[in-house]
Amino acid sequence: MRLALFFVALATSIAAEVGQESIEYWNRVGRKWLDAKLESDVGTILAAQQTPPKNVILFIGDGMGIATITAARIARNQNSGQADVNQPFFFETFPFSGLSKTASFDTHTTDSAASAVAMMCGRKVEQNTLGRLPGHGNKCEHGEKAKIRDGIADLAIDKGIDVGFATTAAITDATPAALYAKDVHRRMEFDSAPGMNTSNCEDIATQILSHPADKFKVLLGGGHAQFLPDSVGGNRTDNRSIEEEWAHLRPMQLAQSRVLLTGTEDFVHHTPEEDQQLLGIFAPLHFPYRVDENLRNSSSVPRLSEMAVKAVQVMEKQTDSRGYFLMIEGANIDKAQHKNRFHLATEELSEFDRAIEQVSNLVGDDTLILVTADHAHALTIPGYLNKSRSIFERDGNVSSIFFATGPGYGDGNRTLYTAEESMDPHFAQPASFFFNDARHGGEDVGIWAKGPFAWLFTGTLENTQIAYNIKYLMCLDDKEKSVCDLRKRMTEKQQNEDAERIMGATTVSPQSQSFHILNTSLPIRGTMIALLVITCVLALLVAALLVLLLRSTFRGTVKPSESSS
Ligand SMILES: *[C@@H]1O[C@H](CO)[C@@H](O)[C@H](O)[C@H]1NC(C)=O
Ligand SMILES: *[C@@H]1O[C@H](CO)[C@@H](O)[C@H](O)[C@H]1NC(C)=O
Ligand SMILES: *[C@@H]1O[C@H](CO)[C@@H](O)[C@H](O)[C@H]1NC(C)=O
Ligand SMILES: *[C@@H]1O[C@H](CO)[C@@H](O)[C@H](O)[C@H]1NC(C)=O
Ligand SMILES: *[C@@H]1O[C@H](CO)[C@@H](O)[C@H](O)[C@H]1NC(C)=O
Ligand SMILES: *[C@@H]1O[C@H](CO)[C@@H](O)[C@H](O)[C@H]1NC(C)=O
Ligand SMILES: *[C@@H]1O[C@H](CO)[C@@H](O)[C@H](O)[C@H]1NC(C)=O
Ligand SMILES: *[C@@H]1O[C@H](CO)[C@@H](O)[C@H](O)[C@H]1NC(C)=O
Ligand SMILES: [Zn+2]
Repeated sequence: MRLALFFVALATSIAAEVGQESIEYWNRVGRKWLDAKLESDVGTILAAQQTPPKNVILFIGDGMGIATITAARIARNQNSGQADVNQPFFFETFPFSGLSKTASFDTHTTDSAASAVAMMCGRKVEQNTLGRLPGHGNKCEHGEKAKIRDGIADLAIDKGIDVGFATTAAITDATPAALYAKDVHRRMEFDSAPGMNTSNCEDIATQILSHPADKFKVLLGGGHAQFLPDSVGGNRTDNRSIEEEWAHLRPMQLAQSRVLLTGTEDFVHHTPEEDQQLLGIFAPLHFPYRVDENLRNSSSVPRLSEMAVKAVQVMEKQTDSRGYFLMIEGANIDKAQHKNRFHLATEELSEFDRAIEQVSNLVGDDTLILVTADHAHALTIPGYLNKSRSIFERDGNVSSIFFATGPGYGDGNRTLYTAEESMDPHFAQPASFFFNDARHGGEDVGIWAKGPFAWLFTGTLENTQIAYNIKYLMCLDDKEKSVCDLRKRMTEKQQNEDAERIMGATTVSPQSQSFHILNTSLPIRGTMIALLVITCVLALLVAALLVLLLRSTFRGTVKPSESSS
């Protein structure tokens, strides 16, 4: 018994040593969660039946919390005259959904950098940091040992799986940069970023020239200013054009060409060809809001849906493809809410949804599609406005779309706005505390999934689990659990069973054979586990009895020191 207690204590102390700054901690969380899923009644059946996805597309609606989705859904349906204001967004019709916990390593409510790293690398990091292990401060003086190199992108590139992204933010913004940037503060977007100690730091823009981003197949978004020197209107003071440098990098082994698109014209005229690497930058910084594009009747940038479709087309064109991982971000859903401007957010969310629908229609059933948010906004929908009125209006003095913080606070008495004012596309909904930029919300966000193994993204999970599951399904991490091991074990099992059947010389049709295996494997497995457990319990009982017997036999010879330790 003492020995057992000792081992328990030892195990706990080892467990305590592995802190949350370590990937081992999050891998253990991931493994445990996944095992429970795979060993559930439904999990055992589905894992045996399905082929793992070849491709994974992760859609991130930045700041797309549950209240944001509800309010935007109502607004969109009211705008289009729908009698049923709960008509769902396309992604809300996915067969599986769950909840994801978003807290960062050091804050209850996360920023976009820490949460994107969690979803793309499978570990929690400090607020505002990218590709940097926790506990390394904000200086870039730790070299390789502070850098996170086990993210989805790094591992996928090593396995020959293609990686890409499209976003309506700058390519150097936190969410896309979480895929590739190492050891930087999220504001270190270019060489002379203000307020940053840049010594020894490689700014985010230049990091598209090094591993793993130099091997990405698709990079689409905004941010010319971070890539171009001040002499041509950019922000850089090192006189470098990172865009040109990217175009002149040696082509990758498989990629015959690097294609640089620097404007919407280029985008429209580009046709995806085999083995291209595509860098497209379409705005000085972030994309303009869809509402403003519509008001101006302009197409100064491609739509998110157009970029998403282009990204998939390029990916599907790759020869000898071993699959791809694609991240598509609706960034302006967040930026609009930072200003409490919910008409803008509604339109951005609708465009995000359009991108999901068009991509869904394009890909085959070998593709897993995930839709989630990196964090919520501190938004709520207080009662009890009559359904016949616009969700943007107020019920008495209560605004139906209400932020905790932000510029919508105004002069403090924003309760007095009229229904007409609230229908201005740039109207800012009220907030209870003034901030130039509204603060994010810390509650769980939704995750919606469809395609092979989509059921793995149900229940409540850590945002790190998203990366863990993707690594598992694409067999990215050789040191961790992977679906490839599961397939191997299942094939071996099947071969053994087939061999046994042949030995038994029974004649069964292949079809009924496979039904037979699936329909009976569960009870058989259950019985075997039960037998095993019973055997173990019996063995333990016998051992305990033996120990008790020996103890009572030799009671007189036990040294006193032993019982006082
Ligand atoms: C910037 O960081 C370097 C080392 O990383 C340090 O030597 C230097 O003093 C810092 N400069 C400022 C202004 O903090
Ligand atoms: C960088 O350039 C953009 C676009 O020209 C500008 O809006 C922004 O203020 C600049 N950023 C910084 C930090 O100087
Ligand atoms: C910047 O680079 C260009 C070409 O790369 C060169 O012609 C020019 O002299 C450089 N300007 C400065 C200020 O270094
Ligand atoms: C919007 O622009 C398109 C082409 O750019 C033009 O055909 C159309 O008439 C314009 N619509 C309005 C309302 O100005
Ligand atoms: C809601 O508005 C409709 C139409 O104006 C009205 O008939 C109905 O009585 C209202 N319901 C409530 C609960 O106020
Ligand atoms: C709304 O707020 C104003 C100013 O605080 C107050 O005078 C008024 O009675 C309130 N109206 C309602 C319906 O509560
Ligand atoms: C808000 O309150 C301030 C001071 O109480 C007042 O001067 C201002 O006119 C009010 N604003 C509106 C829109 O009523
Ligand atoms: C079990 O077998 C029946 C027919 O024998 C079949 O209809 C059913 O789909 C099988 N169940 C599974 C999970 O394959
Ligand atoms: Zn934000």
